Amino acid sequence: GAPVRVNVSKIEPGQQMVAEWRGQPVFIVRRTEEVLGNLEKLTAQVADPESKASVQPTYVDPKNRAIKPELLVVVGLCTHLGCAPSFRPEVAAADLGADWLGGYFCPCHGSKYDMAGRVYKAQPAPLNLPVPPHTYETDNVIIIG
Ligand code: FES
Repeated sequence: GAPVRVNVSKIEPGQQMVAEWRGQPVFIVRRTEEVLGNLEKLTAQVADPESKASVQPTYVDPKNRAIKPELLVVVGLCTHLGCAPSFRPEVAAADLGADWLGGYFCPCHGSKYDMAGRVYKAQPAPLNLPVPPHTYETDNVIIIG
């Protein structure tokens, strides 16, 4: 499939937009400083903290999984059986697990991911959400593919 050009200028802090690439949803999230700060705290709770087994281009930061820390770009298909995880940037402690700080929740079998698309330990999904190949054409325009 052809590369896809996406303008990310309208994504509010803490929110996401969904693009489409090769018939797959691609989630693009503008992460806040608070969200980025939480990623480090979750290292022990996620299954593949530096995506050694997961799909991720070598040019993204191994810890925050992005070219620019504030903009996460991931394929929006659960690595268990391919359902579309829902974006849950904020989670009440009593809601889906006290340790979960929010991210993506797969409605099919309950896999939880963090705000870097990293899957928590002991979930049905084995791997992190894939980071697709992408580059920046300008500050606000990403080319996916
Ligand atoms: Fe997501 Fe099974 S498809 S948990």
